[in-house]
This record gives sequence, C-alpha cells and structure tokens, in this order.
Amino acid sequence: MNYKIALIKGDGIGPEVVGEAVKVMDAIGEKFGHKFEYVDILMGGCAIDAVGKSYPEGTAEKCKECDAVLLGAVGGPKWGHSTDPDKRPETALLSIRKDLGLYANLRPAALQPALADACPLKNDKNIDLMIVRELTGGVYFGKKNRYQTEDRGEEASDLMAYSEKEIERIGRRGFELARLRGRKLASVDKANVLETSRLWRQVMHRLAEEYPDVQYEDVLVDNAAMQLVRDPGQFDVVVTENMFGDILSDEASMITGSIGLLPSASIGDTAPGLYEPIHGSAPDIAGQDKANPIATILSVAMMFRYSFDLPAEAKAIETAVDAVLNEGWRTADIAKPGEEVVGTLKMGGLIRERL
Ligand code: IPM
Ligand code: MG
Repeated sequence: MNYKIALIKGDGIGPEVVGEAVKVMDAIGEKFGHKFEYVDILMGGCAIDAVGKSYPEGTAEKCKECDAVLLGAVGGPKWGHSTDPDKRPETALLSIRKDLGLYANLRPAALQPALADACPLKNDKNIDLMIVRELTGGVYFGKKNRYQTEDRGEEASDLMAYSEKEIERIGRRGFELARLRGRKLASVDKANVLETSRLWRQVMHRLAEEYPDVQYEDVLVDNAAMQLVRDPGQFDVVVTENMFGDILSDEASMITGSIGLLPSASIGDTAPGLYEPIHGSAPDIAGQDKANPIATILSVAMMFRYSFDLPAEAKAIETAVDAVLNEGWRTADIAKPGEEVVGTLKMGGLIRERL
C-alpha cells in the first residue's frame, strides 16, 4: 500500500526524533512492501519565526490530504511570552486538534520491564494503563471571558461544557479500547461538584449497560490522582474529560519514569489521525544528538495500528524497541548514573537493525 504522511517536525528536538522515526517507517516499508510519501508542514514556534503565526493558513487542509500526521514537538521558552494567540505555539496544537476532529487522545503508560528501576514508586512495578482523554471539548474550548467589574477588579472565566454526544463518543472509545485490553474501564470525573461530570457519569452508566463484559467503575478525579501513585496496577483503561486527562496523563507518564519512551495518538472518526511523543521540545538538548527517539518511533507503531490497521507492522516496531532496551542500550534520559549512553542517531539505527 501507499501512504501519505504529514510531518510536523516542529521545534527543539522535534526534527531529530521525527528524522529517526521516518527512517524506521522506510525500513518497515521495505520489509512489508509499503510506500510512504512525506509532506513537511510548518507549525509551532518555527512557523512563528518563518511566517508570524504558529498555525499558518492551510495547515489543516494540507494535513487532510494525508493519511496520518506525525508530530515531533512544538513550543519552547523562546515563544512562551506572547499574549497574541497567533504567536503562541499552544494555539496551533489546540487548533489542529479541533480542525481535524481529533476528539480521542490515547496516552498509554506502561513500565518497560527493562527499565523497572526508573519507576519512582516503591511497590508497584506492574504499570500498564491507557488514558483516553477527551481532546476537543470541555474547559479548553469553552467561551473565555475577561472583564472589569465595579467592585471586584478584573474578572475572568472559562466555560466548561459537554454535550451528551461528546461524552458518548469518547465513552465508547474507552469501552472499545478496554475490550481490546484487560476489559476494565475507569471513568474519571468530579460528579460530587461539577454538573458536566454528573452528565458525564449519567452517559457513561448508560453505555456501561451495552458493555457488560467490561468491568466499569467511576473514580473521582482527586482519588484517581491518589490511586495512580498508590496502586497504578489497578488501572487498565481510564477515560476522562480534557483537563483531567491533561493532568492525569502527565502523572501517569511520570510514574513509568521514562517519558522519553511514551507515544500518543489523537484520533477522530475520519482520517488523518495525529501521532506524537508525549514529551516536549526539550530545547536544552536540541540539535545535540542527545534526544531519545523511541517515543516518536513508538508513535509510528500506534499510527500503523490505529490509522492503517497494520498490527503486524506495529508489533515489529515495538518488538525491535523492546529488544534494543533489553540489550541495555540507553539514551541519556533513561540511563542510570555511570551507564554508557548512545545518541539519537545511534538509537534509531539500532532499532532499524533489529527490524
Ligand atoms: C498536552 C499539552 C497541551 C495540552 C498544551 C501544550 C496546550 O500539555 O498535550 O498535554 O494542555 O493539551
Ligand atoms: Mg499536558
């Protein structure tokens, strides 16, 4: 098959890690008889520098001509201060999610056996969960307001709104993914306080009746944050709204101790889906051949699985990554003190050799 892939290399270490991921894709293409064509798309801080806005005209349209999007990382301290939305990298991220209809954000957090020492928790080394975060609704996209009051100074508000439809489609994704994994689903909300959460819970309970084979539970978000560090092994799939998912997915990635390994997928009902490492642009090590390309390479595996329905190709990548880690190869971010480290290019090359 032929596939057209949009590459948003972005800022900082983005171009380096995407570079290695592209070489892995080409190696898979050779091995399995696929052809990949790439389209470079400018977005993020580099786009602010080049054309004055982080999300240039036509970005979504160009992505829509492709079968999937691979993103490195966008942003960095250089662009962190502007109040003009066009000049903020985050604007590009939120816009592309909305414009491509990427309402489901899949963020797996699994502890690699070879890296069990990296887990900062004392007891539980059995972490293998997937956070399914709603990505195009809630307080991120609700009406924002800022105004002067007569007696309270300036006031600001962000509206948090969810419709039954939005909840149902992400809820279904959660149940469907649970069916493909351990058949357990935790739905995280704040139904003791928020009306959006009460509606969320009502819809989830209705759905739960359609999936009697999935063990379902409601978890309040504060308790979920606690349980994630107390006993993460209890979770399989966790589904939640946009902002709770933003926060909990960072927590989940931290307990695996190796954020440089974690991929993510953002998908909607139609192509293209968007795939990116969970880590940021790491400007402090950009351009030095130090970044870990594994999270981006594993994002390609997710692309093969979720956008192209190529599970064997996905598995081949994951197996190659496991092999390299089991052999003891480490980039600086996952090395223990005194361990020998390899750079971005070498790590990418080792993974390709094992394909
Ligand atoms: C993420 C990031 C973004 C988010 C920011 C950069 C807008 O934290 O992808 O989790 O909050 O969604
Ligand atoms: Mg975040």
